[in-house]
Amino acid sequence: MVTVVSVLLSLLLLLGPAVPQETQAGPYSLSFFYTGLSKPRDGFLSFQATAYLNDQDFFHYDSEDRKAIPSYPWSQMEGIEDWENESELQKAREDIFMVTLKDIMDYYKDTEGAHTFQGMFRCELRNNKSSGAFWRYAYDGRNFIEFNKEIPAWVPQDPAALNTKQKWEAEKVYVLRAKAYLEEECPAMLRSYLQFSKIHLDRQDPPTVSITSHWTPAETQTLKCRADGFYPREIELHWIQGDDTQEAEGGDVVPSGNSTYQSWVVMSVSPQDRASRSGSGSYSCRVKHSSLAQPLTVLWAGARAEGSEGTRGQ
Ligand SMILES: *[C@@H]1O[C@H](CO)[C@@H](O)[C@H](O)[C@H]1NC(C)=O
Ligand SMILES: *[C@@H]1O[C@H](CO)[C@@H](O)[C@H](O)[C@H]1NC(C)=O
Repeated sequence: MVTVVSVLLSLLLLLGPAVPQETQAGPYSLSFFYTGLSKPRDGFLSFQATAYLNDQDFFHYDSEDRKAIPSYPWSQMEGIEDWENESELQKAREDIFMVTLKDIMDYYKDTEGAHTFQGMFRCELRNNKSSGAFWRYAYDGRNFIEFNKEIPAWVPQDPAALNTKQKWEAEKVYVLRAKAYLEEECPAMLRSYLQFSKIHLDRQDPPTVSITSHWTPAETQTLKCRADGFYPREIELHWIQGDDTQEAEGGDVVPSGNSTYQSWVVMSVSPQDRASRSGSGSYSCRVKHSSLAQPLTVLWAGARAEGSEGTRGQ
């Protein structure tokens, strides 16, 4: 059986407005992930692309629909991108990508096998200035080729990549275009997207914190502190007693599927711990998040929890 103590958002409001974070200047990033499979399997199509603005899904594209489909909330933002145009661009990328995969398999004289080709590039803006970018590929999970902006040139990391380099550098202008793409066009696209998306990316959604307790057959009580619906992703969750941080499991942060995140930590309290504990509930869950002016401390109402003993084992 479960006992729940909910701490509502209104409590957060009582604590006063959050200190605004210095996020206006970024960093912001635009990233693209590409995956090509020589043999589509298990629901994976031969080609899939996903673009992200910071850590948020921006759009998807795949070899079946061949359309760039914006994710929520970008799908609601009129004018953020010409999606027909973006679809054409991704189709062209898909074609080059699949040809490259085939070339590599030809090089290794393995035209029948199941192989994976992955590509990733990203550019960043900090204080409205391009502050870093990369472009790299992997074949069957190993580094394959990477763009070096300083030379500029494609740097092979696999024997087969020498051929790819030759092809991608067949004309000098290809290399200059790749450099300009990473250092100028990509940041310019990101800048134009930010006109629409800053509010979404800079939002500070405070966590809703709840504590649940479960009894295990071994008379041990587990206390779970859960934070829901927060953004941005960084959060700290601890179980504490007095000033001491308690050993706990969990702490992973996972997307909630609505542009926010959730996380939890679980602590076990054995019968001995319970006996030695001073009467009233002395365990607290402490939550630190950028949306909160100060850490939020939620007391585990121990006494009430003991009241649930009658239901243990059910
Ligand atoms: C697509 O975008 C490119 C680059 O911004 C532009 O040159 C081109 O005219 C656009 N095409 C269409 C059909 O909008
Ligand atoms: C950001 O940089 C671009 C290009 O350097 C410039 O055109 C634009 O005005 C800048 N925007 C802001 C808000 O400073």
